[in-house]
Amino acid sequence: MRFEVLTIFPNIIKAYLSEGILKRAIERGVFEVDIINIRDFTTDKHRQVDDYPYGGGAGMVMKPEPIFRAMDHLKRDGKKRYVLLLSPSGRVFNQALAEEYAERFECLTLISGRYEGVDERVKTIVDDEVSIGDYVLTGGELPALVIIDAVARLLPGTVGDMMSVSEESFTSGILEYPQYTRPAEFRGLKVPEVLLSGNHEEIRRWRRKEALRKTLNRRPDLLEKIKLSDEDLRLIQEIREEENGPDQSSRRDISEGDT
Ligand code: ADE
Repeated sequence: MRFEVLTIFPNIIKAYLSEGILKRAIERGVFEVDIINIRDFTTDKHRQVDDYPYGGGAGMVMKPEPIFRAMDHLKRDGKKRYVLLLSPSGRVFNQALAEEYAERFECLTLISGRYEGVDERVKTIVDDEVSIGDYVLTGGELPALVIIDAVARLLPGTVGDMMSVSEESFTSGILEYPQYTRPAEFRGLKVPEVLLSGNHEEIRRWRRKEALRKTLNRRPDLLEKIKLSDEDLRLIQEIREEENGPDQSSRRDISEGDT
């Protein structure tokens, strides 16, 4: 797979991709990243990429011409590409979109805007507008890197153990169970006994229960989107009883007939 990033800050993109798992995956040829400096596609003496907004108002707007020219340059290869504009008003990126991009596209082109925005006409040459969350950043470089990271780690060969990709939060639809490593006791804090037991079935059940507990407490909305098994429903009942005491609805009301 190939990612193309259009930016006026190529070093931000380079820096992140020159460390760790993504660097090694690029070296192994799992995917490639072409960084295109939008400023290289200006034609004026000052290499100007932004200008004042028509109608007035604060801030600067990125000019359309350098971005169109950079895209024309890329399109000369005649290859298919899916073009995203990073913007806080785009649709919100999530794991399902990361999976879709990893499966469907040979080339993903990411246009990172800066300043107060990008000239609206740029939207005529993009396939979708994507936001990484409901907050405003100073530019689209971090969002482009977030998307590259989330998509690239799904490509076979990026992450060593594909199990760690398929078992994790959001792939299964619920949050991840708590993880521990050695030592078994640290400053009086003990690793749960069951994890030291070697009983794989007990460990599996404990992990599922704790993943459900975390999801129930932090992100109950996620539980509405997945199909819960009979075991899940039993575990949730156990969690509720542990946290609130026995379910009142299943107990006979003392006032009901004992008098
Ligand atoms: N540019 C600025 N903020 C952004 C966000 N939250 N997502 C995508 N692009 C952005």
